[in-house]
Amino acid sequence: MNNGTTRSQIHAVYPGSFDPPTNGHLDVIHRASSLFPIVTVAVVVNPQKRDPLFTLDERDEMLRECCAAYDNVRVEHFRGLLADFVKDKRANVIVKGLRVVSDFESEMQFAHMNRSLSGVDTMFLMSDSSYSFISSSLIKEVFLQGGDVSGFVPERVLHFLRAKRQHSGGSHVDLPRH
Ligand code: PNS
Repeated sequence: MNNGTTRSQIHAVYPGSFDPPTNGHLDVIHRASSLFPIVTVAVVVNPQKRDPLFTLDERDEMLRECCAAYDNVRVEHFRGLLADFVKDKRANVIVKGLRVVSDFESEMQFAHMNRSLSGVDTMFLMSDSSYSFISSSLIKEVFLQGGDVSGFVPERVLHFLRAKRQHSGGSHVDLPRH
């Protein structure tokens, strides 16, 4: 590397909304933790797509619990630009998961922009094929309409989803739309 960083110091940032974390996210975290010595899971405070179902504290708590087994993974949050966060953290690489080919087009744009703004490259991990159709949005929609999502999220996240439904009085939680 040409910036004085040795390979053993490589710090990867895995950003996302994590509203909520899914087994697909956890698979990327698991694989990133075996590739990089330090992985920061970076929770965006205000997701751009919609108002989050879960508060920042809830998303943070779910991730911390799900990542507790990895001693090289930490959970932080950021506001504003990812490029500023990675520069601030002196991270060397951004990690993203790619589920399907259609993810690639927008992710390529983001990768170019983030590299232009921060000098930090993005590396993509192909989602495990068993998670290629999972997204946080779909999980929320299916769960809140009464579907079984237990195969797609960690047990702890299921608990948070159930609590959200109970808190709303049982059957219906309004999902903010795109
Ligand atoms: O889990 P998501 O919602 O797909 O994650 C999207 C995220 C948080 C990675 C993206 O929206 C992001 O980087 N937001 C921070 C604002 C930013 O840097 N925007 C310019 C992207 S090039």
